[in-house]
Amino acid sequence: MQHSQLDRSPIHRYLEQLLADLASLNDGALADYIPELTAANPAWLGIAIVTVDGHVYQVGDARQAFTIQSISKALTFGLALEDRGIDAVLSKVGVEPSGEAFNSISLEPVTGRPLNPMINAGAIATTGLVAAKDGRTSMERILGAFSRYTGAPVGIDEKVYRSESETGHRNRAIAHLLHGHGILDRSPDEVLDLYFRQCSILVTARDLALMGACLANNGVNPVTGVVALKDRFVEKVLSVMSTCGMYDYSGRWVFDVGMPAKSGVGGGIMAVLPGQLGLGVFSPLLDAKGNSVRGVEACRRVSSDFRLHLFNVASSTSSTVIRSVYDCSRFRSRRQRRVSETELLAREGSRIRVFELRGELMFGATESVTQQILNEQDAIDFLVIDLRRVFEIDPAATSILVSFSDILATRGIRLFFTGANDHNLFIRRIRAASLDLVSPSLFVFDEIDRALEWCENALLASLGLAADLGESVIGDISTQYLCSGFSAMELTSLESLGRPVQFRAGEKICHLGQPAESFFFVLEGEVEAMVVTDTQHSLRLTIIGAGMFFGEIAMLTDRKRSANIVASRDTRCLEILYDALEGSVKTKLVANLAAHLARKIVRDTELLQRIW
Ligand code: DON
Repeated sequence: MQHSQLDRSPIHRYLEQLLADLASLNDGALADYIPELTAANPAWLGIAIVTVDGHVYQVGDARQAFTIQSISKALTFGLALEDRGIDAVLSKVGVEPSGEAFNSISLEPVTGRPLNPMINAGAIATTGLVAAKDGRTSMERILGAFSRYTGAPVGIDEKVYRSESETGHRNRAIAHLLHGHGILDRSPDEVLDLYFRQCSILVTARDLALMGACLANNGVNPVTGVVALKDRFVEKVLSVMSTCGMYDYSGRWVFDVGMPAKSGVGGGIMAVLPGQLGLGVFSPLLDAKGNSVRGVEACRRVSSDFRLHLFNVASSTSSTVIRSVYDCSRFRSRRQRRVSETELLAREGSRIRVFELRGELMFGATESVTQQILNEQDAIDFLVIDLRRVFEIDPAATSILVSFSDILATRGIRLFFTGANDHNLFIRRIRAASLDLVSPSLFVFDEIDRALEWCENALLASLGLAADLGESVIGDISTQYLCSGFSAMELTSLESLGRPVQFRAGEKICHLGQPAESFFFVLEGEVEAMVVTDTQHSLRLTIIGAGMFFGEIAMLTDRKRSANIVASRDTRCLEILYDALEGSVKTKLVANLAAHLARKIVRDTELLQRIW
């Protein structure tokens, strides 16, 4: 099934809306101190998110190539750490925020050590530390490292490289100063050439998001599985990004956005939420500090809308919030079904899917769960999401679930949230979005079992099999499971033993623990077997409709009722006294009963598997 771009997923929808909102933001100017950068189209805007699960969301000009510029500094710092180790790198460059502009000449007075690797001085020093080894030049190794992050070979924009090389007098001065202080071991011109080329590497917003996702994923590229950066250096790179990545805007950035990030004058921003995602934005109009205007705004919005601030600690992941996933081909509702219904559900029941969630729903886990469901949507007609064990649905998760519910509705997938009673805010948001208008509503069932029963009935009906909805009348007992193998005479004989009885809706027919002397064939209507679990709740064990029977268990035990039986609607039965049974009728009936109970045990074992 092909879906429109807009409808792909809640996150995708969100990003499309964000793109539209930001399009009217036209403040800022193209970087012109590198003349070639003025060739950019000011209207370009691309946004991408890549999760640590490797899901890629991209909108707008997310595939438009541009030069990475200063974002390269973070990755080269990582490579220098791998090449030289932490101490050797720190002997040449510090990790203190300068609070100054990217091109400031912030060197420690005596040592000449640049304050950090994110300002140009520190970045040039860092680039000088990338070794040539294994028969590869420093530049080849930088390109190789970057391509581990992007998952594809990367190239250089020759025009931008030449443009900066011809005009980068300030950087040239910095490189010579560094050389004078003994910070650069190699010729300043050689290091500068490397630095200018590294800044001119071509990337896209998608690449930036994937690079960020590698850092979020402990250094492993979540799409290719390749190690982009050894894990022990990831925290070092992220630390420097969070304190220095946005230059003299770094403090406010962490305050507002709360994600380690790095910007570049090409218009890119790469932000990282450790353990969750990478965010890449590209828009070439820059503010006075050299950061993309729309890029900063996009990151602020994404962070605030999805509660992604680093210090808003998210402990849940998809693996911790999904308690169990199952479908109705194996785990049906507790309604007793006729053989034809059971067979059809065994074949088609996988179209009814249950996700039991638990714990705290926040952005990452919710995104991952909804994406998992959307990936399988073509195989699902009915979805039950159980929230009984969820203790918190944060606003970001709420937004995702609201959008997700809408997407499922447009695709004709029937959704029910069970156990949602404690989540008033969530219910109100769904209602405010007018998503709960269909009958029965998203929240109509509190118990999974009742939701499953409804879904099974609807599925059976859609497959042309009229499910027993408690409305059917099966006037004689010939089709009863307990009577299989009976001759006509045996049937008549059993029927003649029966006494017709009627119960009103709500009437209690059997009481747990009370003496029992008969069982019942249901001819019309429906009864429920229940046990009381505590003073307030009773657990519905099963629903028994026309064509089924109840009260049989006590015949084989101590003749005491093992559950409460209540008529859930006006019900007509044929009651048979246990002691009235005799001869072949009794033998066949008991044999059928044994087979019935054996099936029940198999089924209960499966239910136990589901619960544990
Ligand atoms: O060193 C320079 O001037 C550029 N190649 C990189 C500067 C940069 O991207 C600053 N970031 N906002």
